[in-house]
Order: sequence, then structure tokens, then C-alpha cells
Amino acid sequence: MSAVKFQAEVLENLCIAPDICRMTVRWPVSAGLPAPHAGQFYMLRSWAFDETPMLSRPISVHDYDAEKETLTFLYQVKREGTEKLKALEAGQSLSLTGPCGNGFDTAEIVRTAAGRPVAVVGGGIGTAPLLLLCRELSAAGCKLELYCGFRDQPYGLEEFLPYCAAVSVATDSGAVGYHGLVTEILHPEQFAAVLTCGPMVMMRGVAKLCDAAGVPCLASLERKMACGLGACLGCTCHTKVGAKTVCKDGPVFPAEEVFE
Ligand code: FES
Repeated sequence: MSAVKFQAEVLENLCIAPDICRMTVRWPVSAGLPAPHAGQFYMLRSWAFDETPMLSRPISVHDYDAEKETLTFLYQVKREGTEKLKALEAGQSLSLTGPCGNGFDTAEIVRTAAGRPVAVVGGGIGTAPLLLLCRELSAAGCKLELYCGFRDQPYGLEEFLPYCAAVSVATDSGAVGYHGLVTEILHPEQFAAVLTCGPMVMMRGVAKLCDAAGVPCLASLERKMACGLGACLGCTCHTKVGAKTVCKDGPVFPAEEVFE
């Protein structure tokens, strides 16, 4: 089902770490709204169309609870748009357009894994879309191991514990876990597939390791977006199979298509 626009009520909006906030909103699928799946995103806007910033903020789905009919976003407060999102309080509302993008094909990942474990690799706020991914894959019987890289203090990892057999952390500062890059502790040959989201430099490193090990890798890209719906071509990226829009053809791509 394609994206819809909906004025959603904020249920909770809390900061869980410096500049990292988690917002839960009501998303009533029982009223006909499409259910999102892992790797999709929404365009969020809590300000009028004649107010700045001009563009809505694309934010990936962190979690979706079908029973409670709630969507959760984990987002980093960077500039004016996300500052305005941070200021929202329970009971207020914002405009959501989505779910957008292709997301992860979890059925295909489960088929590829065929009972072998899958590695999920996140970097910083790139861990946000991986929670719903782990929830969906775990529900489908997939064995998962999570690898995460952060600058200093990790956040939100306790949410992954019900779904992942192991959680490994690397930090640039050495404050928690391995002191170094997450790519230094990842061994793709131990896995049936690797799924990643985070900074481009990290995903490029993950893709390179997977390529060398002959292990399939899917990467979720981030781009500045205007429409979020494939109409403006503002998020076009060049892949080995031609130009693609990150918002509509992606954000999830086979890593070998987008990285050298
Ligand atoms: Fe408009 Fe992707 S943001 S085509």
C-alpha cells in the first residue's frame, strides 16, 4: 500500500541520550492506515508549510506495535526541524506521510538465511531502523547477532536484547565495548547475510568485508529528501544498475549495487 498523510497524536516524546529522542505516536491501522515494515520511513512535520525549515524530516520507523497501533521514531536532534520535533509534547500532533520506501524484504532474508544466523550492523543513529528489523526477523525465526558502533556512549541497545542472541559494541572512545571500529569485530563469514545502516563510511567497510567473504549484504542509505515519494528526484543515487531514488527505490539496496 502506498504512503498516506495523517495527523498523528504524540503519545510520548523523550530524550534518552544527549540529542537522541524517542517519539511514539498513534498510528491506527484499524482506521485504514497502512502498516509499516522494517526499513521504511515517514516524512515528519510539526510546523506549517510557510514556516521553516521548508522540508519535512525523513525519519525511519524505529518500532511499530500492531496491537497498540503505535509507531516509534528514534531521531537525532541536529537542526531546526528536529528541534521542533523535540519540542512536541504528549497530546500534540504532527503530520506524518508514509510509510515510504521499500524497506527490508524480511521474507527473502529468512529464505536466504535458511536457519543460519544473520548479522545486523548499526552505527550511531543508524541503529534506529534496525529494531523493527530485528523484531520482524526474530518473529520469523531468524537467529540474529547485533553489532553496533558508537562514538562514545551507546543508547537504546536494551530494546534489542529480546531479539538478538548476542550484542557486540564498539566505540571510538573505548568507553564501552571494543575500542575501535565495528568493522574490526565483524566476521561476515560467520553469517548467512549482513544487514546494515549507519554512516556511509561504516557501511562501505561492512560491504567490503561481505564482498570479500562472499556474503550477501543489504544496506539502508540515508539522503536529504524533499518529497520522500520519488517525485522530485532530489535523492537520486548512482548505482551499478543505473540511477535510483533512495526514497522510493530504496532506502534499502544490495550493498554491491551502491558501494564499489
Ligand atoms: Fe523526492 Fe526522493 S526525495 S525523489
